[in-house]
Amino acid sequence: MKEGIYSSGGGEMIQVLYFSGTGNTEYVSKIIERNLQSADLLVKRNSIESFTNDMSIGDILVFGFPIYACDIPKFIKKFIIEMEPVNKLPVYLFATKAFLSGNALRVAEKLFKKKGYEVKGVVEVFMPGSDALAFKDRDSSMVKSISMMNFDEIEVVSDFTKAIISGDGNNYSHKPKIGDYLLGDLIKGVYPLLENMLQKKFKTDERCILCGRCQRICPSANIVVDHKVTFNNRCYLCMRCIHNCPAEAIQIGKSTIDKFRWHGPKGDFSPENMD
Ligand SMILES: Cc1cc2nc3c(=O)[nH]c(=O)nc-3n(C[C@H](O)[C@H](O)[C@H](O)COP(=O)(O)O)c2cc1C
Ligand code: SF4
Ligand code: SF4
Repeated sequence: MKEGIYSSGGGEMIQVLYFSGTGNTEYVSKIIERNLQSADLLVKRNSIESFTNDMSIGDILVFGFPIYACDIPKFIKKFIIEMEPVNKLPVYLFATKAFLSGNALRVAEKLFKKKGYEVKGVVEVFMPGSDALAFKDRDSSMVKSISMMNFDEIEVVSDFTKAIISGDGNNYSHKPKIGDYLLGDLIKGVYPLLENMLQKKFKTDERCILCGRCQRICPSANIVVDHKVTFNNRCYLCMRCIHNCPAEAIQIGKSTIDKFRWHGPKGDFSPENMD
């Protein structure tokens, strides 16, 4: 254990907690874990799906989530609100996004402050869009440009982990530009309608082999597989089932048929084996 601000004799533990629908946020959480471990810090990493309030947060929390509709996904807000309150525990927030986050990080900061956390650092990481990709042709320019991306070195993540290691934080104060803020609010405003419409379009096609994976990996227990696949009405729209059906049989209407499927930055996202 490194003798640093968080390890001075006490053996403090850093908890990395995250949600990841399709692998991007999990990937960033793994880089953070690796960087912290290389500095000899004690790290525990869990998806919120395997975390319960009777488990210890440790001494520092690092919390990550994807941006949905320029906001924190509703179920993640609920998770934070239901977390045990703490007394001035440091928290570092990271979010992955494809284009715009609106005011989401500011909202996250406020939620954690209300729980008694001291927000010491925040970072946003650009990643491929798990929503748009399922509607893109495999030879589209978006898919081609993503296949050229180098995910090995993500500078903002290195800087973020350095801020955790030093204990100084990164003095980040999330102030979106007014245009981004307004566009974010507009997207947030129309999203419930879109969400409702898209949820109803989930279906499987004839390629389904009834393997049951979608039921096992759905974070909202929205899918039942027996002699057929049923989608209920509590979908998070996380896109996990669509991208990870082995037969590519899950569709949103007709627009996703034979389109691209995303398996995380290294192509190895395995929701059945998440920590
Ligand atoms: C339902 C949904 C809505 C999204 N909305 C936004 C958005 O408003 N802004 C943005 O930058 N990215 C948006 N994205 C893209 C994700 O934030 C991005 O791909 C993220 O890295 C996904 O992380 P994950 O793979 O860990 O789930 C959205 C993705 C989904 C599935
Ligand atoms: S994961 Fe795909 S193939 Fe398996 S049951 Fe679900 S829809 Fe069918
Ligand atoms: S049904 Fe909805 S919540 Fe469940 S995995 Fe699919 S997209 Fe995610």
